[in-house]
Amino acid sequence: MVSYSTVMISTTVGRIFCVFMLIMAANVVGHPNGLSPGVYQHSCPNALSIVKSVVEKAVEKEARMAASLLRLHFHDCFVQGCDGSVLLDDTPTFRGEKTAVPNNNSIRGFDVVDQIKSELEKECPGVVSCADILAIAARDSVVLSGGPEWSVMLGRRDSRSASLSGANQNIPAPNSTLQTLITKFKLQGLNQVDLVALSGGHTIGHSRCTSFRQRLYGKPNLIMEQSYSTGLKSQCPRSGGDNILSNLDVGSPTKFDSHYFQNLQNFKGLLISDEELYANQKDSPNYLTRAVVSAYAKNEKMFFEQFAESMVKMGNIKPLVGNRGEIRKNCGRINLK
Ligand code: HEM
Repeated sequence: MVSYSTVMISTTVGRIFCVFMLIMAANVVGHPNGLSPGVYQHSCPNALSIVKSVVEKAVEKEARMAASLLRLHFHDCFVQGCDGSVLLDDTPTFRGEKTAVPNNNSIRGFDVVDQIKSELEKECPGVVSCADILAIAARDSVVLSGGPEWSVMLGRRDSRSASLSGANQNIPAPNSTLQTLITKFKLQGLNQVDLVALSGGHTIGHSRCTSFRQRLYGKPNLIMEQSYSTGLKSQCPRSGGDNILSNLDVGSPTKFDSHYFQNLQNFKGLLISDEELYANQKDSPNYLTRAVVSAYAKNEKMFFEQFAESMVKMGNIKPLVGNRGEIRKNCGRINLK
């Protein structure tokens, strides 16, 4: 006769087995779009550690590089999906995305990506895509800055095209209203919670004066803390000094934390698009973003968990899988046929 305790044990074992199988299935099957975390397990077992070690050295040399690498993945995913299109150089016969308004004189980190690629090509040629390098480097950069860890979905292939107009249209401008931000994120399948959590990427890194000038001199209806505004005005004049840099998170620009959201509550958001998430909701009471900002300002753990989830969601935007696209040999140019 089967005893009660035997049934209990076998049920528990059964549950553990089911959870184990689900985890295994997620590794093998992954997302319905074809991505999964274990793609390079056999084809390039050291891929993740190679990326990590190059990112570590680069961030050690210059802390800001973590921010720059995180942003590259965002600018890649919002244009034709996460396909490495942002990395393609212009040639006499090809126009890439690097000179689009949101990218020109602004996105950086290409040398680090090239270095990662060349180390990966030595280890396992033609296996790891540039789009995946961006996704892994973004995660490693966040972790190195003190932020959350997540399992990166992999298996993206690289595009043979880029879209200058897509970069100009899809990547939100720093003077965007809340409505525009919500619309541009929605077009990528991202909701208001993703918008707030991912904007939390501005807990690290810098902005040029040209990107926040309008916040200082041209948007009187969007409140800004007085001494913060005075300080910024002394660095960023009404005209000239376009490339002068300021911290996106005034107090802790190299630490991934929830101060960004506390800044917004204190009306110390650097970009119009930052402060819009919090301050400008009197006119739009139906939006959620102010409440989400307040929640993350109080609860860093909640921010970290959602940031990780939203990064995976962003990384899932329209990947090239199967026989679409290619694995570039050099991230800056498409392969010769
Ligand atoms: C919500 C809409 C967003 C807007 C309007 C926006 C706009 C900007 C602007 C204007 C800059 C400064 C660029 C410059 O002056 O050169 C910047 C920097 C940055 N952005 Fe965003 N961004 C947005 C969302 C995001 C997202 C989703 C992420 C990542 C998850 C992100 C990560 C960063 C980082 C880390 C930097 C600093 C880069 C560095 O120091 O090199 N941003 N962003």
